[in-house]
Amino acid sequence: MRKKIVAGNWKMNTLPKEGVELAKGVAAGRGEVCDSVEIIVCPPFTHIAQVVEAVEGKNVAVGAQDCATEVKGAYTGEISAEMIAALGCKYVILGHSERRQYYGETSESLNKKMARAYENNLMPIYCVGENLEEREAGRHFEVCKQQIEEVVFNLTAEQFAKLVIAYEPVWAIGTGKTATAEQAEEIHAYIREVLRSKFGAAAEQCPILYGGSCKPSNAGEIFSKENVDGGLIGGAALKAEDFLAIGKAF
Ligand code: PGA
Repeated sequence: MRKKIVAGNWKMNTLPKEGVELAKGVAAGRGEVCDSVEIIVCPPFTHIAQVVEAVEGKNVAVGAQDCATEVKGAYTGEISAEMIAALGCKYVILGHSERRQYYGETSESLNKKMARAYENNLMPIYCVGENLEEREAGRHFEVCKQQIEEVVFNLTAEQFAKLVIAYEPVWAIGTGKTATAEQAEEIHAYIREVLRSKFGAAAEQCPILYGGSCKPSNAGEIFSKENVDGGLIGGAALKAEDFLAIGKAF
């Protein structure tokens, strides 16, 4: 059986105190969510350490939202994979559409970040997804395939076994628009097929999360689809109650 995951991407939200409160709220209600569902919170870098402490022993994993392409050294302003691993992160989100769109993230930089993540035993949550124009032009399959081929196909079988993929249609992120459960299943099944073409049967074990205005009211339907293994949650992850309700939607 594939791992089920609900991950909260807090983006550039919460001050340390608020983040700790939110993390404690998630930890306190974690028991209401099935144990087999992996619950992950991804706070800003500034309070990862405090959040790790707040959820200790509570079966809540912590992830970072990005990491540097380089190992260490004279790269002002960057945060290395080694640093976030040292704080207790288990996951790192890579290739989020906001990073691709606003910060010039490319397959080239993402290949380096993936390498850094694996060197430090971090499990990448690699994001793919098309924008509105690409969706309207019917290019969504092609776009996701390319984002996977250029990065995921460079992984070894051993690395691939630790990968999580998040499909996030850019037109649904923070817009209140959600892909229908059918649209999600269609592309998730396609992504799995692309993965199968390279990694064979191991593709069956790779969790593929849906992201884009996922909330308590629509999570159940989306998660009921065969190839949807959970969600990467933005806005709704900022309230412990909503985030946990999404976890309970399985
Ligand atoms: P959203 O963000 O849930 O606010 O749409 C999802 C994401 O970008 O991870």
